[in-house]
Amino acid sequence: MTREIPKNLLVTGGCGFIGSNFVRYWTEQHPDSKVVVYDKLTYAGRRENLNDLWDNANLSLVVADIGDMDAARKACQDNGIDLIVNFAAETHVDQSILGPLVFTDTNVRGTHVLLEVARELGIRLHHISTDEVYGHIRDDHQSVETDELAPRSPYAASKAAADQLVQAYAITYGIPVTITRGANNVGPYQYPEKAVPLFSTNAILGEPLPVYGDGRQMRDYAHVYDHCTGIEAVLLRGNIGEVYNVGTGREMTNLEMVDIVLDTLSKDHSLVKHVTDRPGHDRRYSMNVDKLRALGWEPRYDPKQAVAEAAKWYEGNRWWWEPIRSGEFREYYDRQYAERLAGIQQ
Ligand code: NAD
Ligand code: DAU
Repeated sequence: MTREIPKNLLVTGGCGFIGSNFVRYWTEQHPDSKVVVYDKLTYAGRRENLNDLWDNANLSLVVADIGDMDAARKACQDNGIDLIVNFAAETHVDQSILGPLVFTDTNVRGTHVLLEVARELGIRLHHISTDEVYGHIRDDHQSVETDELAPRSPYAASKAAADQLVQAYAITYGIPVTITRGANNVGPYQYPEKAVPLFSTNAILGEPLPVYGDGRQMRDYAHVYDHCTGIEAVLLRGNIGEVYNVGTGREMTNLEMVDIVLDTLSKDHSLVKHVTDRPGHDRRYSMNVDKLRALGWEPRYDPKQAVAEAAKWYEGNRWWWEPIRSGEFREYYDRQYAERLAGIQQ
């Protein structure tokens, strides 16, 4: 059964990577619904991700923090919001190792504030969670939605706490919620701290590609387009109160991902440099996505195509990433990689 298309959406984190892809997808598919992007515009949130859409009368932007209850309540009341889609988060594992507290502020407390607003105003909330909440997955298993959560980084722990708060609110207060747990997304407008845009832009610039440890960690590199269609399927056809995994169900090693990036960009494999590993690095994520498939959803891209398409996008869109890489990103890059690339053990 397909439910009525929500009229007025509050999309938190809509200026980030997945949020902006979702806003673009949703406004194309459902031009009659109104979308309010609610975003703090952190370093990862960029108005320009939606530059081609801002003159759409059904799209607007509120610049605010999800932890600001008055601002969130007002944005919902002023716009007659009937669905909150919560993408807003601090999202990078390495940043969570360098400075973890903001991950609790935004990912845990911020989500909690949105739940309070949803409870008070009687609004459905869809929460974007991640496969990282399941922790490292042994070779003979694929995570299913009922598995226990076993996060292992400050980022993953903050996402698991948010995920469980959402479920607790549904049980305790009976508010209508759904959750999707996404695999590792790739595609346009991903901030270049993440592996695929970092490796693509480094390769284009002829800089080394810093592969953590042996590079044999496994990830399900899913195209962001398929994450957007998966979220749409859950919004329109998912069971209220339930959790759905969203990925391709197929993994590759990071070394395989790097090969695809370099081959797609016709760059030499000598650019690969193995560096000191990420502390607590999860070896493998892998999810079973049958529950989402049962809603009639299928991914369009396999992981190899997804990584290749992403690398091509960075090759064709230097206008987007060059200003980012020459700004505050540089400070982070030096902090994260200078010693690693110099071969100093950490
Ligand atoms: P991103 O870092 O690109 O974007 C995050 C957005 O949230 C930015 O626009 C930022 O400005 C905004 N934001 C951050 N703190 C905020 C706050 N306090 N108030 C309001 N806005 C705030 O992230 P992404 O990769 O697009 O991830 C989006 C969501 O999807 C996150 O919840 C993330 O945990 C989840 N997720 C990501 C992936 C992935 O591979 N990138 C996979 C699964 C799930
Ligand atoms: O799996 C879902 C998660 O995917 C999301 O919840 C996160 O928000 C998102 O950032 C992503 O997390 P990862 O840690 O998997 O993504 P990242 O792009 O940082 O790294 C992908 C893999 O590449 C991982 O095994 C670490 C490795 N890596 C990453 C970087 C940045 C390297 O080897 N070198 C690097 O420089």
